[in-house]
Amino acid sequence: MINKDTDNKLPIYKLTSKDKVLKYYDDWTKNAQFNQDMIEWEYTAPVNTVQLLDKYIHDKNIKILDAGCGSGLAGIELKKSGFTNIYGVDFSQSMLNLIPNNIYQTVELIDLNEPLKYDDNDFGAIICVGTFTYGHVKAHALDEFIRVTNKNGYICFTINEGIYTEYKFDKKINELSQNKSWEVLNLSKSSYIVNKDVEAWLCLVKKN
Ligand SMILES: C[S@@+](CC[C@H](N)C(=O)[O-])C[C@H]1O[C@@H](n2cnc3c(N)ncnc32)[C@H](O)[C@@H]1O
Repeated sequence: MINKDTDNKLPIYKLTSKDKVLKYYDDWTKNAQFNQDMIEWEYTAPVNTVQLLDKYIHDKNIKILDAGCGSGLAGIELKKSGFTNIYGVDFSQSMLNLIPNNIYQTVELIDLNEPLKYDDNDFGAIICVGTFTYGHVKAHALDEFIRVTNKNGYICFTINEGIYTEYKFDKKINELSQNKSWEVLNLSKSSYIVNKDVEAWLCLVKKN
């Protein structure tokens, strides 16, 4: 297989510390440049993820956590699909500042690498788009996602193809299937940042 060298596709992929990632987003959000770039780069992950989730969820009032919601691009897609009860969390205040009104019930600053403050079984679904990527949120966060999702609830997320094995997402997904925490309904390569030639794994699971 040809090595795509995904590590070198974007400057942000080089950052490893929380402080550097936060600073990067502070700069990237000036004049809403992040949103502009996502249009120009053909960032298809929010649409792909919401379309997949929408095939499985029929109750549009289900309580959804948008984990790593950023400027709200996945929330906007969820709203377009008719979902009404969405909660946004992210660790970058400058990204949260770009969210349009009336997308989320609440928006909160939360570090997803830390234990979540939510009760067990709190959400009907979690969506996490573009946030499992270089230097961002690690695979152990999936344990917390499972804990706060209710039985038979859904978790739908992307994993940047460049970190899938390196950050051990392959092992984590397997482990959670083997120990019967969840059933994998979809795990396939999907378009992600088309103009930068970066794809992602698109995963949908159902909590047991
Ligand atoms: C590429 S953006 C994607 C944002 C949004 N989900 C979307 O699809 O447009 C990645 C987001 O992950 C957030 N993020 C990175 N590390 C995080 C962490 N440890 N906890 C919470 N959010 C984090 C960043 O602040 C950023 O908003």
